[in-house]
Amino acid sequence: MAGNLTDIEFFILTPDDFQETLTFFDEQFLKRNPLCIAFKETCKEAFGEHLNVALKETLESGFSMGARDKTTKALIGIRLTKITSVDNVSKQTASDEAKLTENNLYRVLAMLSPDEDVFRGVSSFLYMFALAVHRDYCGHGLASRLVKKTLELGEERGYSASEVKVTNTLSEKIYNKQGFETIKTLDLATVEDEFGLDTSLIPGETIMKLMVKRPPSIAMGQ
Ligand SMILES: CC(C)(COP(=O)(O)OP(=O)(O)OC[C@H]1O[C@@H](n2cnc3c(N)ncnc32)[C@H](O)[C@@H]1OP(=O)(O)O)[C@@H](O)C(=O)NCCC(=O)NCCS
Repeated sequence: MAGNLTDIEFFILTPDDFQETLTFFDEQFLKRNPLCIAFKETCKEAFGEHLNVALKETLESGFSMGARDKTTKALIGIRLTKITSVDNVSKQTASDEAKLTENNLYRVLAMLSPDEDVFRGVSSFLYMFALAVHRDYCGHGLASRLVKKTLELGEERGYSASEVKVTNTLSEKIYNKQGFETIKTLDLATVEDEFGLDTSLIPGETIMKLMVKRPPSIAMGQ
């Protein structure tokens, strides 16, 4: 790494950071994330126009954290997050139905959607959309810090529930440490023919997980 964590500035990404974030997402997420790897070059196409819309919405919501190297000024990490209402999730699922039938990426993600009662009693939650750290800065706790800071920001603003779909065992560890629980799993190897995936390209595990963090009052078993 070009420095240590003291040389890194954490900040909230805004719509002004759109182009830089999109380029970073393309280089450091789409090309390295296990699910995207299994979709090969079709992953970006699958996001299509939806990617720009989702990214703009995410930056506008003011809950996405970025990390910048203070020396080089380069963006080196992103934790894209937005606020989603529980109602919105069911509406989106219904309106996206047509798209889901022909879009394999959305179909895989839909298999890991939370059931309606997961956030019982909560009206809105943090929807964690993409986490990535630049290759040269990995393994120094940067992703863990980005997740922790996002959760702190959410708590400060009154949001203590979160959802994330993980495809990478490293990030699963991060969320476990922050009190997330796994509530659904999908082995991509079992659906690869159906969705046109090549899971032999994934360097590690092929299991994808829906993880949630819920306020103690509605956590598992209560
Ligand atoms: C997953 C990713 C965000 C992790 O970023 P990071 O800054 O290296 O993560 P951290 O340094 O906070 O490490 C998280 C955990 O993984 C471990 N870890 C990180 N890199 C590792 C490596 N190369 N080998 C073994 N363990 C590693 C850390 O030790 C840490 O575990 P610990 O808390 O028990 O010590 C990064 O690898 C990445 O951007 N990957 C590509 C995009 C992607 O797949 N995103 C996740 C989508 S679910």
